[in-house]
Amino acid sequence: MNIDNLAPILPVNKSILMATKGRIDMLVRLSCLLLLLMGNSYSQRDKLLQGEELKDGDELLSTFGKFKLGFFTPSYSSKRYIGVWYQSGYYGVVWVANRNSPIIGKSGSLKLESTDGNLKIFHSGGNPIAITSFEGARNTSVTLDQSGNLVLHELHSNGSIKGMLWQSFDYPTHTLLPGMKLGINLLNGHQWLLRSWLTIFSPAEGSYTFGMDQNLTDRLIIKRLGEVRWTSGLWPNGEFKSWVDRGYNFSYTSNEQEKYFSYSVKDDVTSFPTLQITDDGSLNDDGGFSMLCSKEGRHCGSITDSAICNRGSSYFDVKFGLMSSGDGTKFMESDDMTLDDCRLKCFKNCSCVAYAATYRENITECEIWSRGTKFIKSHTDDSRTIHLEVQPKGKSLLQ
Ligand SMILES: *[C@@H]1O[C@H](CO)[C@@H](O)[C@H](O)[C@H]1NC(C)=O
Ligand SMILES: *[C@@H]1O[C@H](CO)[C@@H](O)[C@H](O)[C@H]1NC(C)=O
Ligand SMILES: *[C@@H]1O[C@H](CO)[C@@H](O)[C@H](O)[C@H]1NC(C)=O
Ligand SMILES: *[C@@H]1O[C@H](CO)[C@@H](O)[C@H](O)[C@H]1NC(C)=O
Ligand SMILES: *[C@@H]1O[C@H](CO)[C@@H](O)[C@H](O)[C@H]1NC(C)=O
Ligand SMILES: *[C@@H]1O[C@H](CO)[C@@H](O)[C@H](O)[C@H]1NC(C)=O
Repeated sequence: MNIDNLAPILPVNKSILMATKGRIDMLVRLSCLLLLLMGNSYSQRDKLLQGEELKDGDELLSTFGKFKLGFFTPSYSSKRYIGVWYQSGYYGVVWVANRNSPIIGKSGSLKLESTDGNLKIFHSGGNPIAITSFEGARNTSVTLDQSGNLVLHELHSNGSIKGMLWQSFDYPTHTLLPGMKLGINLLNGHQWLLRSWLTIFSPAEGSYTFGMDQNLTDRLIIKRLGEVRWTSGLWPNGEFKSWVDRGYNFSYTSNEQEKYFSYSVKDDVTSFPTLQITDDGSLNDDGGFSMLCSKEGRHCGSITDSAICNRGSSYFDVKFGLMSSGDGTKFMESDDMTLDDCRLKCFKNCSCVAYAATYRENITECEIWSRGTKFIKSHTDDSRTIHLEVQPKGKSLLQ
């Protein structure tokens, strides 16, 4: 399945209300389902041998066909990434090899170097991007196994497996799959940590992490830019009850070598078992539904912030249209200000009544509006999704 060129399938059509990110994603997922059904079935290998390469457009397919590895472009982006997915879209991509070093164009190929056995991405735009960098020549092979783990094996000279050198499960991106660990290896200090995407259309490192603190190994913590936003209770606890009810079996392991959290699923779990930290700090399941902080909506990244303005009973709702004053206040202090940053800015500023992403297509850059500007419902070319302060019963403060 090729998961690029999704943009034309997405309804940029003005008559369709791009109400929420969840909804956009649902559409991305539906589009992909269609692509899947139309999908071709070439290249069914699950491994690369030394000297072999996977060109852009080819895929590795895990045994039983659950996971694929290949190049992809997120919607509304021009950058190419190598990833593992079970279906395309933000929630379906479970690992990205080059989240901070994307490739432009389709010249990329994933190669197991014949000289030293390391895994690298070759492309026409510059030096190869090393995924592994072991010293000394080795005989290796790399396999996408049935759990979605990309594993680099060292081989004996007769071709049999000598041992594991590296696995993608040790370098997670924003998704925890069954069998992965979240915690700390006490022997070498390696931390298994999830880090959010920057936006749903960019796998670059985002603001949120989910994992275990070195000094607080008996609980899980969500941090935003290093600042603690949410802490789980002690083990065992009921924080993940809604997952447990759906057949997720969580466990905590603690010994001299490692301390980690992991999970397995019962055979009868029909949804795809994932745990993802999203670009706005929620913990979601595979359907994009927030399993944590659900009482507070999608905003668990900010609820513990004492600096948040008290708005009484009013809350933010998603509307499609324009603000009467045109552009709002934009922020330039960093290149990667996202909707989530403006959400927090708005929550902290009592005169703020609305916030939105500046570019509706790729949800990058953002702005906020103060009291005095009105919301105008419209479906013109420059209309977009605006998060607007409203009062209960759907009555806007501004209308
Ligand atoms: C790699 O395998 C080849 C044969 O497949 C063998 O001749 C060579 O010695 C091996 N190299 C190492 C470092 O094991
Ligand atoms: C391959 O070589 C290793 C190490 O020399 C040995 O332990 C193993 O039994 C060999 N496997 C086969 C299939 O010959
Ligand atoms: C853990 O605690 C030690 C001693 O109190 C401190 O020096 C260190 O910075 C802490 N590490 C983290 C990650 O908080
Ligand atoms: C839950 O996980 C534990 C530890 O991995 C395992 O021993 C147990 O059998 C699992 N239970 C179920 C119902 O899958
Ligand atoms: C709140 O937002 C308004 C409009 O963007 C801005 O003028 C004002 O300085 C902000 N206040 C604070 C405390 O940041
Ligand atoms: C997002 O889209 C805008 C408008 O097309 C473009 O200027 C900007 O560079 C894009 N940003 C990213 C990160 O793709």
